[in-house]
Amino acid sequence: MLSGEERREIEMKLTDYPNKQAMSIESMLIVQRHRGWVSDESLRDLSELLGLSVADLDGVATFYNLIRRKPVGRHVALLCDSVSCWIMGCERVRDQLCSSLGTPLGGTTADGRFTLLPIVCLGACDRAPAMMIDGKLHEDLDEQRIEEVLAQYE
Ligand code: FES
Repeated sequence: MLSGEERREIEMKLTDYPNKQAMSIESMLIVQRHRGWVSDESLRDLSELLGLSVADLDGVATFYNLIRRKPVGRHVALLCDSVSCWIMGCERVRDQLCSSLGTPLGGTTADGRFTLLPIVCLGACDRAPAMMIDGKLHEDLDEQRIEEVLAQYE
């Protein structure tokens, strides 16, 4: 069930959008901000609130890769794998992250601390390789910097 706060935020935003369909992504992002991901139950609640079908919402969520439809860890690390980061060694960064966290890309650590996901360009190409954790950008990643960054998240 949507929380009162989630419902309030969505209803407030509705006034900014021309119709409820246009609110699909924003409403799922609001739920995700509160819960980390968008469950089937949340999708059903949003469907009732917005008067849209669950299938339509799910279709949007599938297409828009920033909507997470599976549970995630306490922190979500998004590792850029686009061209500049690839040139600057994002594969090395990925390997070190996977090894330090003990999870493959796309996975969640056994202790639920991190989910590690790939993402397209984060807009920090001049300081590649880069990743984003819980909305905070971390740039110029090398072996030492990766460990320093990870240590900031419990
Ligand atoms: S390619 Fe990675 S931040 Fe742009």
